[in-house]
Amino acid sequence: MGKGSSKYASKTPDENGYIAYSEDEDQIWSELYSRQIDMLPGRACSAFLNNLEALGLPRNRVPQLPEVSTVLREHTGWEVAPVPALIPFTEFFNLLANKRFPAATFIRTREEMEYLQEPDIFHEIFGHTPLLLDKGFAAFSHAYGKAGVAARKEDHAMLARLYWFTVEFGLIHRPGKELRAYGAGLCSSIGEVKYALDSPVPIRKRFDPVDVLRTPYRIDIFQPIYFVIESSEELYQLAQMDLLAMIEEARKLGMHPPAFPPKQKVAS
Ligand SMILES: [Fe+2]
Repeated sequence: MGKGSSKYASKTPDENGYIAYSEDEDQIWSELYSRQIDMLPGRACSAFLNNLEALGLPRNRVPQLPEVSTVLREHTGWEVAPVPALIPFTEFFNLLANKRFPAATFIRTREEMEYLQEPDIFHEIFGHTPLLLDKGFAAFSHAYGKAGVAARKEDHAMLARLYWFTVEFGLIHRPGKELRAYGAGLCSSIGEVKYALDSPVPIRKRFDPVDVLRTPYRIDIFQPIYFVIESSEELYQLAQMDLLAMIEEARKLGMHPPAFPPKQKVAS
């Protein structure tokens, strides 16, 4: 989601929705999958881990979107839709409002195994689709899309923050349990999931939707702030609430100052 240019190009599926990946691309998937799956127990929340298993993604090749959609449809009625690397907010909200999860179909290069700013298919499928099998998380994404469709253009950036600090970088701390990650940006990242859970550096705040709407973020650094929910029920309930009224409230209260340094201008 978002504007800008990408050095990657999404691959176009054939008439059956299948994409031909090269051997090297399958190998990159396989390496990303095996190192992430080894690291997530004890770090990702149980809903993520259980649903990842239920998805039954291939380990040795890039999954095809139709096969992932088949499982999603059975559970929650969602499917994945192939999109270019970056799409406008309006298209993003429209897809979510129709229970279609937009997925870029390219896979990162070997030079960017550790971190890339743009979502590739490993992030989209491995990171996102497990929680689209979960009732609470899936309902939130659906309601979020509908709120986005109803929102004014000037509210889009604020709504993007709500998605960023939940679906992408959310943490969960069930009472009496350990802190865990549920956000796709964390669950698909080798470095940031450890950082988010273990580092003394970032701020971990109790999730509050209006507070989230007031919090700026950057996409090219490890997050300085993470928001922590207590259960997916919280997001499910939020999905039933008036997100646009919350935006109004956040606007009245004003933005929080950024907890990060300004982005350095890079000479090009
Ligand atoms: Fe994402």
